[in-house]
Amino acid sequence: MYGFTVMTILALETSCDETAVAVIRDRKLLASEVASQIAEHEKFGGIVPEGASRNHLVHAPRLLEHVAGEAKIDISQIDAFAATSGPGLASSLMIGASIAKGLAIGFGKPYLAINHLEGHLLSPFFGETEIRPNVSLVVSGGHTMSIFVRGIGDYKVIGRTVDDAAGEAFDKIAKLLGLGYPGGPEIEKHAAKSDPKRFDLPRSMPDSENFSFSGLKTAVRYLLPKLGVIPNPASRDEGSPNRSLDSRGPQRDQSACEGSLASARDDRLLSNLCASVQQAIIDVLVRKTIDAAKKHDVDLVTVSGGVSCNRELRKQLGEACKRQRLDFKTAEPWLCTDNAAMIAFAAMLKLEKGASSSVTEEIDPNLALA
Ligand code: KG4
Ligand code: ZN
Repeated sequence: MYGFTVMTILALETSCDETAVAVIRDRKLLASEVASQIAEHEKFGGIVPEGASRNHLVHAPRLLEHVAGEAKIDISQIDAFAATSGPGLASSLMIGASIAKGLAIGFGKPYLAINHLEGHLLSPFFGETEIRPNVSLVVSGGHTMSIFVRGIGDYKVIGRTVDDAAGEAFDKIAKLLGLGYPGGPEIEKHAAKSDPKRFDLPRSMPDSENFSFSGLKTAVRYLLPKLGVIPNPASRDEGSPNRSLDSRGPQRDQSACEGSLASARDDRLLSNLCASVQQAIIDVLVRKTIDAAKKHDVDLVTVSGGVSCNRELRKQLGEACKRQRLDFKTAEPWLCTDNAAMIAFAAMLKLEKGASSSVTEEIDPNLALA
């Protein structure tokens, strides 16, 4: 119904603790803004859902104004409004979805409810017209999934984490080591030019299509005392409720505390341990993604989500694809972490196929991809 040619789409992404707004026109990015709440949540040692939604309310109007200015458009010129409708924190999702619905109703334009994971998995194609069938690895703080993408909206989940997400493992282990949040970039920084074979860490569930990373975190916890290091006492999340299972559970524990290893300044030990942890995570992600690509007989592998910012993962997955004669695609780092441009792009692809959502469509914290 809305299959017109030049379209300008405004999208909001408020599934967790980042408020993001973006405008795209005809697949080209006009403006994209992200306001992070990390500093605010650090004060409380994690995400307080009510605090996150209050912050979205503060940031969203400001970002809307900014983005419209940057894109040099009036909101009345927007052809459709989109928002992430799940998975995520209910009280956060509600803010972005309500704003987008209100704008759609006010301006008499279509509304599109977008799955956050669909935003991620389409992001390697940002700006392109064709979505080739592929095996997609979505790796972030809340999700670790391999997906067989047959086309837009046609997905089959191949494997998912049974406990921690890959990004969550980076974050929790960084915390054990006394490093800051988010843990992924911290571990990557320390791992550079170090020995990834120095410590023999587990690669869990080798024969399954699913993933598991909590054993790696436990292994590091038990290794530290053997190295004469006491795990960071602030890292008390052993046995905490499962926060990934692709539901972006209510709290990502993210306080950055001084830990024994980092403060002991044993730089060599720390960097070799970071390199070994990073390699343990990468080995599992690469092997399972390549196996899935072969099994589903695709010639393209894509990777998205915050963890795909990791240069070593990009390099090793790219090399593994090359060895298997598979094409490999990933998004630029700014599109890998949570943003609204990927939501706008997914909305555009859906709109072009004639799809739109009802403004009565509810948000769903556990929204499934397929
Ligand atoms: O996609 P994202 O921004 O948010 C979620 O949807 O969860 O991903 C955030 C996650 C965090 O766990 C963070 O530690 C991880 O992505 N991350 C990285 C890197 N940059 C961000 N992990 C490994 N290496 C990185 N360079
Ligand atoms: Zn995400």
